[in-house]
Amino acid sequence: MGNFLAGKVVAVTGAGRGIGRAVALAAAAEGARVVVNDYGVGVDGAAPVSGIAEAVVKEIEAAGGEAVAVADDISTMAGGQRLVDVAVASYGRVDGVVCVAGILRERMLFNMTEEEWDPVVATHLKGTFTVFRAASAVMRKQGAGTLIGFTSGNHQGSVSQANYSAAKGGIISLVRSAALGLHRYGVTANAVAPVARTRMSAGVPMELAEIGEPEDVAALVVYLLSERAREAGVTGQVYTVAGPKIAVWAQPRELRSVYADGVWSPERIAEVLPGSVGVDPMPMLARVEEMRRAAADGERPNAAQ
Ligand SMILES: NC(=O)c1ccc[n+]([C@@H]2O[C@H](COP(=O)([O-])OP(=O)(O)OC[C@H]3O[C@@H](n4cnc5c(N)ncnc54)[C@H](O)[C@@H]3O)[C@@H](O)[C@H]2O)c1
Repeated sequence: MGNFLAGKVVAVTGAGRGIGRAVALAAAAEGARVVVNDYGVGVDGAAPVSGIAEAVVKEIEAAGGEAVAVADDISTMAGGQRLVDVAVASYGRVDGVVCVAGILRERMLFNMTEEEWDPVVATHLKGTFTVFRAASAVMRKQGAGTLIGFTSGNHQGSVSQANYSAAKGGIISLVRSAALGLHRYGVTANAVAPVARTRMSAGVPMELAEIGEPEDVAALVVYLLSERAREAGVTGQVYTVAGPKIAVWAQPRELRSVYADGVWSPERIAEVLPGSVGVDPMPMLARVEEMRRAAADGERPNAAQ
């Protein structure tokens, strides 16, 4: 066992499988006491089964660590609150929360139903809010804490997962808001965009050029939860981790601007905008076109995340 997180209390959602499980095991191995949450659902978020979180608690205990299970649905306010309440009741504090729980309901936008939109946004975006909300109230009083959200390279846009992409974009804005709003209370907030072999990535209909294991993602999360990341002032950041690669995403910023000489009219904008402000080419659009061509030629498309 290492001691990167010695004395810390960390709660992880979606920790029964995949990346969340690897994060829970790695945090415990580095000395954290862990609250393991998982509702035990299918990739589409349906048919919950109990016991998934408890099984990971047993693995942690077998390795000499300390953990407690919470099998609640994290997309409810009560579920998010309970996760934090159990951390405080069991271990007296909460130093870090990691919101990994996620589901997929894939459909083209023009066919997407409310039943495909709502649960995906609820699990990812609201499921991050419910936990951040409850945890930040405790962390504000502690004067310290770390919030970690899970996003995806797909926050840039997605052909057939507009629900997932919108939720993942929302998580980045939520994380940045938490970083801004909680800075003065000593609380940091960051987002991780992983690419790792799990049941969720197994369904991606393309070769991922860069992919790793859940353990690669867990190492970054443990660092972000640690005092080392706090001392380095890491907050408001979005990191991709894909096997050996870690990358930081740019903060959104205005690229170019132009000012009206008086008041804008549509005609004046049509004259001025293309040659001044112009457009910022969308990398995903070029990639989608390449993939369409590859698919038309009968190849399995290759996609970087
Ligand atoms: N695997 C990848 O390459 C990849 C890529 C980009 C983003 N992500 C994101 O990483 C996170 C983890 O993905 P994964 O690949 O490990 O998926 P996974 O399907 O293996 O695990 C997700 C876990 O979340 C749990 N869960 C779902 N809804 C829940 C709810 N309402 N309450 C509590 N638990 C719930 C599931 O039961 C499951 O155990 C997700 O947010 C996903 O969107 C993964």
